[in-house]
Amino acid sequence: MTKVINGKELAQDLRNKLKEEIINLKAKYNKVPGLAVVQIGNVAASSVYVKAKTKSAKEVGIEIIDHHLDQEISELNLIKLIKKLNNQDNVNGILVQLPLPNHINEQIILDTIHPDKDADGFHPLNVGKLSISATNDENLLIPCTPYGCLLMLRGLNVDLKGKNVVVIGRSNIVGKPMAQLLLKESCTVTIAHSKTKELSKLCRDADILIAAVGRPEIVREDWVKNGAIVIDVGINRIDIEEDGKLKTKLVGDVLYSEVESKASAITPVPGGVGPMTIACLLRNTTIAFKNKLSN
Ligand code: GUN
Repeated sequence: MTKVINGKELAQDLRNKLKEEIINLKAKYNKVPGLAVVQIGNVAASSVYVKAKTKSAKEVGIEIIDHHLDQEISELNLIKLIKKLNNQDNVNGILVQLPLPNHINEQIILDTIHPDKDADGFHPLNVGKLSISATNDENLLIPCTPYGCLLMLRGLNVDLKGKNVVVIGRSNIVGKPMAQLLLKESCTVTIAHSKTKELSKLCRDADILIAAVGRPEIVREDWVKNGAIVIDVGINRIDIEEDGKLKTKLVGDVLYSEVESKASAITPVPGGVGPMTIACLLRNTTIAFKNKLSN
């Protein structure tokens, strides 16, 4: 029987733990973690994510410091805002929702966020720490989506040591940090990308297949080894026709209906990786808060 990994449930467990922890921290220090959420413009997908992140943060007792900025804001003014947030005492984490408008250099912005307040784990210092650190990740700020994937894999209680993993996608947000995390688990990791030769054949050798390419339903049944674990990071909106009407549907990078019966475990879309990403953002914010208390 294929296990369908319930990201909603695992994320709820993590949020419950964080909520309890924050209640205890508040009782002891009379403060709660604060997360600054910076959104620029009105990209529809970003608005959906920011709303979900804000709602979950409030649910666990994190204070939200909201900055919704005009699409036309200059890079300089955005940098000024981030520097202000870097020095603001009630802000423990700063999240700048990506993508940014074309006139703003994403890397300059991510580099401006103080590494101690880097709720996404995208700052070069934290990226470096992840790549050289020991196995203990208790006070590291780690990119949320790959960490959420790792928690789902750990939740399966399978021995990850020596497993062949193929990560499809080499982004800084998912592919590369995912590979670092799994290396730390002693997996043998291959990162595949758009120039990889014979991709489907490579994937067929994977004990664990992680699809993070952003191409709807690209992973088909014949890409997957019998009994493999399949983690679908993709969130793609596609147009479908239903009852003569054009509708949009959310699908992953994996063709679920084909792959489900072949995998030993699989994440659905929606309800898989997505909720875990948000829960891990709350975790990072709480870690940043605790790190500050202990400094
Ligand atoms: N845009 C898509 N995914 C992410 C994410 O994990 N963090 C931020 N800040 N922006 C995103």
